[in-house]
Amino acid sequence: MTSAPYLEPFDQMRIWLSDAEKSEINDPNAMALSTVNERGAPSIRMVLLKGFDENGVVFYTNFESRKGRNLLANSNAAVLFHWKTLRRQIRVEGTVEVVSNAEADEYFASRPRTSRIGAWASKQSRPMEGRFEFEAAIAHYTKKFGTGEIPRPDFWSGFRLKPNYFEFWRDRKFRLHERKTFKLDDDNKNWTCEEIYP
Ligand SMILES: Cc1cc2nc3c(=O)[nH]c(=O)nc-3n(C[C@H](O)[C@H](O)[C@H](O)COP(=O)(O)O)c2cc1C
Repeated sequence: MTSAPYLEPFDQMRIWLSDAEKSEINDPNAMALSTVNERGAPSIRMVLLKGFDENGVVFYTNFESRKGRNLLANSNAAVLFHWKTLRRQIRVEGTVEVVSNAEADEYFASRPRTSRIGAWASKQSRPMEGRFEFEAAIAHYTKKFGTGEIPRPDFWSGFRLKPNYFEFWRDRKFRLHERKTFKLDDDNKNWTCEEIYP
């Protein structure tokens, strides 16, 4: 059961993300995001990773959505990647902070025009009378913005999950899998690495 040695967690995650880009048929950057509400009840949904470096894991969303409201009230969060083609999983846990306006603006501006209009038109996670209501809102904002600039809505931005824990899971035969964990030390600088039972 030999395996390649692990690097520091950020480098290791970069390598696995790039392996996934080569092997997954779509959305290699899709991750399950777990949040908790004010009563401590968890909820989970997929989001797309839109930035990753030593500062953390970035994703974008509607701040008035369920996840947005959860995260603004309680910054604890976790994300999970699972790549079926690679038989690998990464867990990342930590706390989120809101990305800067400049960063959110830059990412928003890079999105296709229709996606930007969609961000204005969708009252994400809130009840909808029917699809017609959404389509009317899309038509409204399409007309409103015409061919001009589409600013980023105040309620739409990104979060950066600052990791304090990583776990890399690799499939091994007979369910004798490999798990390598990295915990951030109290100094907030060094990582303690441990192997744990599958
Ligand atoms: C593969 C995939 C990627 C997604 N990416 C995002 C995303 O980046 N941001 C987002 O707000 N919702 C994304 N969604 C939709 C969310 O899973 C979810 O339905 C929505 O954000 C509302 O979640 P909430 O009610 O828990 O806030 C994605 C869904 C899938 C299946």
